[in-house]
Amino acid sequence: MAVSKRGATTTSDDETPMGPTGRPYHGFPTPPKLDGHGPARIISLCNQKGGVGKTTTTINLAAALAAYGRKVLAVDFDPQGAMSAGLGIQTHEIPTIYDLLLDSKRDPKEVVVHSRVENLDVIPANIDLSAAEVHLVNEVAREQSLSRALRGVSADYDVVLIDCQPSLGLLTVNALTASHGVIVPLECEFFALRGVAMLIETIDKVRDRLNPTITLDGVLATMFDARTLHSREVLERVVDAFGDDVLETVIGRTVKFPDASVSGMPITEFAPEHAAAQAYLRLARELVARGAVA
Ligand SMILES: Nc1ncnc2c1ncn2[C@@H]1O[C@H](COP(=O)(O)OP(=O)(O)OP(=O)(O)O)[C@@H](O)[C@H]1O
Ligand SMILES: [Mg+2]
Repeated sequence: MAVSKRGATTTSDDETPMGPTGRPYHGFPTPPKLDGHGPARIISLCNQKGGVGKTTTTINLAAALAAYGRKVLAVDFDPQGAMSAGLGIQTHEIPTIYDLLLDSKRDPKEVVVHSRVENLDVIPANIDLSAAEVHLVNEVAREQSLSRALRGVSADYDVVLIDCQPSLGLLTVNALTASHGVIVPLECEFFALRGVAMLIETIDKVRDRLNPTITLDGVLATMFDARTLHSREVLERVVDAFGDDVLETVIGRTVKFPDASVSGMPITEFAPEHAAAQAYLRLARELVARGAVA
């Protein structure tokens, strides 16, 4: 069979199918059962570019890890509250991440909400969070506020995922300071790499000054359309730029995601057999295989 570098149907020499990132397509084994839970590894989903799939990835990766028996806490760190809404959580007049950030005496467990998905809890956000940056500016250790707020809960979970807002401001710096790792979702479209240098610079600065052990857990290509040359070319450029940091799992473009969001369910519950649900389950397995998640 003719082997083209990144086609989905081609084969490598040892007959392992090639994936869209130009590497052999591994299925990744089902994660082993855990004996106990916690302490959590904390991972931020971060990209200051809007609409690249941060929230969709937080929701669906969280649900996929929960389906593999991991105890997951998803933290909404965007005043839009889209992650909370996408998991069917009404955020009007309830305590949110904002209350935890601004009041160090507050017990974080009072702010945690159980989602409808087994093993998946949420710390919600709403528009109140938009005032947080202004308030935090005058705080002592203002970059460490989220880190402090999560200290009281992260021991109970295997993984904490933080859905960042599309900015590189103080809230995102707080998320990076609180995190062990960061996943950067990139939409497979022409301007995907624009601004990524600034994001990497921000991560480097946080590593230098605030959080010396933060690692790039992976770059995740989202909204990939294998039928278009454009999508394939963009993915090729992403792989050229980030090499093995590009996760092998690629999330395809499908209208099932907007549909699932409207229903307030992760895709793994809304359409479990759909390729998109399978992709997030595979992402969960890949992250466990890479050691990014227990
Ligand atoms: N793989 C996909 N295929 C098709 N649509 C998608 C996919 N992933 C996300 N979307 C849709 O694209 C839009 C943006 O996605 P999402 O909200 O996850 O991005 P975001 O990076 O969190 O955006 P923001 O920067 O505004 O927070 C949403 O309407 C979502 O339903
Ligand atoms: Mg978002």
